[in-house]
Amino acid sequence: MDLGLTNRAAFVAGASSGLGRAIARELLREGCRVAICSRYQFRVDLAKEWLMEKCKVSSERVLGIVCDVTDEDQIKRGIEQTIDAFGGLNILITNAGGPPTGKIDDLDASAWRNAIELNLMSTINLSRAAIPALRTAAKEENALSSILMITSLSAKQPIPSLYLSNVSRAGVQGFSKSLSEELGEKGITVNTILPGYTRTDRLTHLSESLNEQTGRSIEDIEKEWASSSALKRIGTEEEFASAATFLVSQRARFITGVALVVDGGAVKSLL
Ligand SMILES: NC(=O)c1ccc[n+]([C@@H]2O[C@H](COP(=O)([O-])OP(=O)(O)OC[C@H]3O[C@@H](n4cnc5c(N)ncnc54)[C@H](OP(=O)(O)O)[C@@H]3O)[C@@H](O)[C@H]2O)c1
Repeated sequence: MDLGLTNRAAFVAGASSGLGRAIARELLREGCRVAICSRYQFRVDLAKEWLMEKCKVSSERVLGIVCDVTDEDQIKRGIEQTIDAFGGLNILITNAGGPPTGKIDDLDASAWRNAIELNLMSTINLSRAAIPALRTAAKEENALSSILMITSLSAKQPIPSLYLSNVSRAGVQGFSKSLSEELGEKGITVNTILPGYTRTDRLTHLSESLNEQTGRSIEDIEKEWASSSALKRIGTEEEFASAATFLVSQRARFITGVALVVDGGAVKSLL
């Protein structure tokens, strides 16, 4: 199936590793030009080299940008750099690291503020910065203009040890639905994708942190995660990235305002 992604321009936030980098890889394989960002130059450089090698593409097709998505000015500069390099923008993927674990007595006001900045405000500010270029892209012939926000299974089924994620992701779901309604008539799709337990650095840090807090072995923690899904395993980055790539493609042009869970069947609700 041709996804209609050839030569489209994409910006993937939080893409020096994990789910963001995996999406960047799929988009490059489908023929996109991709800007990746993270907080550190050396991590951006390593990811760029990795992507060029894996996808057999030249350096002009991958733009590495140092951008902390909690900083609005850095976001504006990053989006501008992308538009300057690629001549426009068709696809925005919002993403960042996940917040720490903790329940009500573990978290002070600054922990709450940091999580809202990292996962909610970054999504809003990335979208605000990209929307003018996405509106322009939506007017072109054979248009493709889409936003995809990475949230978490915790937005649909809160995770007991992850208050900060449960709350900040719920805000992103509300933002996404509102934005899909407003931008729909302009031809811009807005969706969210909710990963379940997927093998990345984040997952390793999460199991280490729970091991420290509870004394349970990492093996036990991961076994429980795997068995919570219908497919009885932890997902791979590639599986997640395939679903994300479809959602921002031309083949998904009548899909907007949805929250797609990619979790091997871990969420147990009917809808
Ligand atoms: N993996 C899972 O099982 C899972 C499940 C549910 C939800 N999620 C959520 O999905 C998102 C991605 O997860 P992941 O597993 O890919 O995490 P990851 O492996 O830790 O990767 C996070 C990426 O975000 C970048 N990043 C972190 N803070 C940033 C900032 N302030 N500005 C710009 N870039 C930033 C990191 O790059 P630098 O460190 O180089 O800046 C890295 O490239 C997270 O929000 C996570 O909580 C993951």
